[in-house]
Amino acid sequence: MSIRPQAPAPATPAPGKLPITELAEMKARRQPIVMVTAYDAPGGRLADEAGADLVLVGDSAAMTMLGHDSTVPATIEEMLMLTRAVTRGARRPLVIADMPFGTFQVSDEDAVRNAIRFVKETGADAVKLEGAGPMLPRARAIVDAGIPVMGHIGLTPQSATMLGGYKAQGRSAEKALALLADARALDATGCFSLVLEAVPAPVAARITQEISIPTIGIGAGAECDGQVLVWHDLLGLYDGRSARFVKRYAEIGDAIRDALSAFAEDVRERRFPEEQHTYAMPADELALFAAATSDQREHADDRG
Ligand code: KIV
Repeated sequence: MSIRPQAPAPATPAPGKLPITELAEMKARRQPIVMVTAYDAPGGRLADEAGADLVLVGDSAAMTMLGHDSTVPATIEEMLMLTRAVTRGARRPLVIADMPFGTFQVSDEDAVRNAIRFVKETGADAVKLEGAGPMLPRARAIVDAGIPVMGHIGLTPQSATMLGGYKAQGRSAEKALALLADARALDATGCFSLVLEAVPAPVAARITQEISIPTIGIGAGAECDGQVLVWHDLLGLYDGRSARFVKRYAEIGDAIRDALSAFAEDVRERRFPEEQHTYAMPADELALFAAATSDQREHADDRG
């Protein structure tokens, strides 16, 4: 029997769920926090079994799962469907739904309404949104509605065009100071954690020391409170060019291609299916079937 309620109960942690307050304690203990993206139920289950603390249903799905060239086209309906699948697989880790471009930029009301959809319709434990500055009131409004928010600064892919492309951020003293100010502001809005993407390691280290909430780095050095990698990058499933900060822990794409080729060859050479893959029937039933079908054939031959 499942220990998780079948219908997600918004804002109610399921039994066995990592309490969100534990993350601040992990920061205090300097115990690294592990986050990975996932986009389906098996991914959520495997991340859980591997001991991930946080599972992010990233809008990177637009690229990794849906074949787009950027994260911008991800729609709320697509993200809701993927998040629903992940929450069915992941029990202990907190599942964070990434709010896709266009779902929180327009107004505080819109941001709260869409964040509510994520917790209510998918069972997500929290949402993530990119940016600071004009997005601070959005984060605040969502937190005020009782939904935990993860911030995300540095390279924010939804605004890559404005940033001049997918490149590291905060590489001048002035820009690094601006990032620190943004991090402090997101901390003050009540975010429970903050993703730092593609930020020089010393800048990320300083931000990590200066703010009260845990930082989760991706391309931000070893001093962040936690680390995140994208599922397809980590597992070698994505055939685009990997960013400098990616470490591949497996080549699952190659393993899948090899397995599919072996299947195709077996089918073409009639090596599959074998005896053990087929169903038998009792000999007497088979004899009756054979007799009936040969009768039918004789009648057909007579008519012909
Ligand atoms: O969408 C995503 O996968 C992300 C991570 C890179 C942090 O935002």
